[in-house]
Amino acid sequence: MARWRFLFGILVAVWPRLAAADMIDTSGLQPWETCALCHGIDGVSRMAKFPRLAAQPEAYLAKQLRDFRLAHRQNDDNVMMDNAALLSPAEVQVVARYFSDQEAPGPIEDIEATDRAAGGALFNSGRPAENLPACAACHVKGDPAANYPAITAQHPGYIEKQLRDFKEGRRQNDPDGVMRSVAAKLSARDIAAVAAYAGSLPRQKRSQP
Ligand code: HEC
Ligand code: HEC
Repeated sequence: MARWRFLFGILVAVWPRLAAADMIDTSGLQPWETCALCHGIDGVSRMAKFPRLAAQPEAYLAKQLRDFRLAHRQNDDNVMMDNAALLSPAEVQVVARYFSDQEAPGPIEDIEATDRAAGGALFNSGRPAENLPACAACHVKGDPAANYPAITAQHPGYIEKQLRDFKEGRRQNDPDGVMRSVAAKLSARDIAAVAAYAGSLPRQKRSQP
């Protein structure tokens, strides 16, 4: 297992460069097939460092891909900036539609009781005294037209990394800094608890194209 992970890590690191250099023949492949190595052909990745894309709002996925292409989102160790650069603007729409149309993944139920309590309180109620809104206000109950990403049924490890990246300013592509101001109010303990809680909830597709 350790050796497989090591080899996989190398493949993941060189893949976009091989494809860009035409060393992998991608002709005849659908544009989403090159994404499957990391994100799964059904958009339900197995490893926590790769986000689950299935049933995310199409417009959210397209925005992230455009942001990677334009270097507005740079918290990906260059992996997605390289992959997104291989897509034409038309292909961005095609892959965003493809992954958005996949069936929503099931929840990740591996969660401790303390995280369920603390994470649930933050997710559902926020902390009004600190002006910290509930995550659910946007991510579950927000206007579907705003295309908020689903954080339910997402890998907790991926959610934690995004929250740390927002908090520390490595990810800066959130409109009006909305997530940077939320994450600024979260401790490391809050982040672990709310990530585990969000991952343990089922995902519902909310926005329609
Ligand atoms: C070599 C592995 C790899 C490949 C291949 C890959 N990705 Fe990614 N992708 C990642 C990683 C790692 C991240 C998370 C970066 C971070 O930590 O913010 C990511 C993030 C994303 C995101 C942001 C998701 C979110 O919830 O914000 C989108 C969208 C995405 N990838 C789409 C694609 C598409 C479409 C393709 C194929 C054209 C693709 N990826 C190919 C590794 C990969
Ligand atoms: C006022 C609305 C709002 C609230 C409240 C909010 N978010 Fe967000 N969140 C957003 C928006 C908008 C984005 C997408 C940013 C972008 O376009 O890249 C986002 C993105 C995220 C992401 C990145 C998703 C991905 O797939 O990469 C995570 C993780 C996240 N939020 C977690 C949380 C958590 C946890 C809370 C509660 C503590 C929360 N958010 C509260 C609006 C909100």
